[in-house]
Amino acid sequence: MRMSRRVENLPPYLFVEITEKIAEKRAKGEDVVSFAIGDPDIPTPPHIIDKLCQAAHDPANHRYPETAGLSELRQAIAGWYKRRFGVSLDADKEVLPLIGAKEGIAHIALCFINPGDTALVPDPAYPVYSASTILAGGRPYYMPLTEQNNFLPDLDIIPDYILRRAKLLWINYPNNPTGAVANLDFFNKVVKFAQQHNLAICHDGPYSEVTFDGYQPVSFMQADGAKEVGVEFHSLSKSYNMTGWRVGMVVGNAEVVDALKRVKSNLDSGIPQAIQYAAIEALTGPQDCIQKHNAIYQKRRDLVVDMLNRLGIEAKPPKAGLYIWAKVPEGYTSVDFATELLERVGVVVTPGVGYGRRGEGYVRLSLTVPDVGLVKGLSRLAGWRSTRVKPRNNLT
Ligand SMILES: Cc1ncc(COP(=O)(O)O)c(C=O)c1O
Repeated sequence: MRMSRRVENLPPYLFVEITEKIAEKRAKGEDVVSFAIGDPDIPTPPHIIDKLCQAAHDPANHRYPETAGLSELRQAIAGWYKRRFGVSLDADKEVLPLIGAKEGIAHIALCFINPGDTALVPDPAYPVYSASTILAGGRPYYMPLTEQNNFLPDLDIIPDYILRRAKLLWINYPNNPTGAVANLDFFNKVVKFAQQHNLAICHDGPYSEVTFDGYQPVSFMQADGAKEVGVEFHSLSKSYNMTGWRVGMVVGNAEVVDALKRVKSNLDSGIPQAIQYAAIEALTGPQDCIQKHNAIYQKRRDLVVDMLNRLGIEAKPPKAGLYIWAKVPEGYTSVDFATELLERVGVVVTPGVGYGRRGEGYVRLSLTVPDVGLVKGLSRLAGWRSTRVKPRNNLT
């Protein structure tokens, strides 16, 4: 058998490798605490599950759904954007439900990228932006996200010859993996940049509801002219602990939404309808669960950052998102450090280099560890001592 070059060129998906490593350890009877994957441990709120169960019993929901989703779901998404961000959307033309944001992020490359085209992709980043570009036959051009630049891409240093062949620019705030946030000034600048260089913007914002210390996020759709140049991906996964149900959305530019709908209608048959009803309930029902979840994550954030700092590991508390982006101690690469934590103290963290070359020097810790595991993980971390240089920690 001979596989396509596009499959051969794909790097292995980061979390598949990590999950396999954890499974291997557990199969040997070793107890592992994983801070690796951003998959909320808190259950989906009961009112959403009740709606799902009720809808699952209705035979009308046992049949093929439509790619465009139920009109009621598109209306619910438009209503949520209006209430949440003051953004008006045409539910029929500017909203498309997705089988999770990842699905839409993967497929949108097929709307823009011809073989040899360039997509501007942050580095480090959620790996699907570059993978989808590669699958479509395109080339990612990596925009460094550095601490000096508050983990925002410096658009002014992208070379002209790259801009001439670039069709798409990816951004993601609150950011995975760095925890950085962006304000409306930045989004306005991105819109202007897109207009100047004839780029489409894809903003990925699934963490906008996971916020701490009173931080108020903004939607890319609030920027002046955003709808003329781009779309925003969003998801119910992190806001309502619904990763397992697979439901997200893309909103914004009608031409882009229509192109993605055309691609998807040839590839999938939409979100199971019972799940669409659960999503409507999530978006239109009581929202107090969000604050409750954020209070839990905030407590975990503070415990993790405090422990890392006490070990001499530099990490700042993020204002939003599910991740701590911590600097690896002196003498280690991100893979060395992650390997050492796994082998010596049974704690899994994600090496930053898995998110791109500029992720080297960091590891990511997810806050989606149940409290019991978190306490165990932190006490194990407390026992870690650097094997590479004189310890700098303040625990003794
Ligand atoms: C930045 C980012 N975008 C998109 C997704 C995927 O979300 P969904 O579960 O809706 O596919 C994730 C998941 O971790 C993510 O971190």
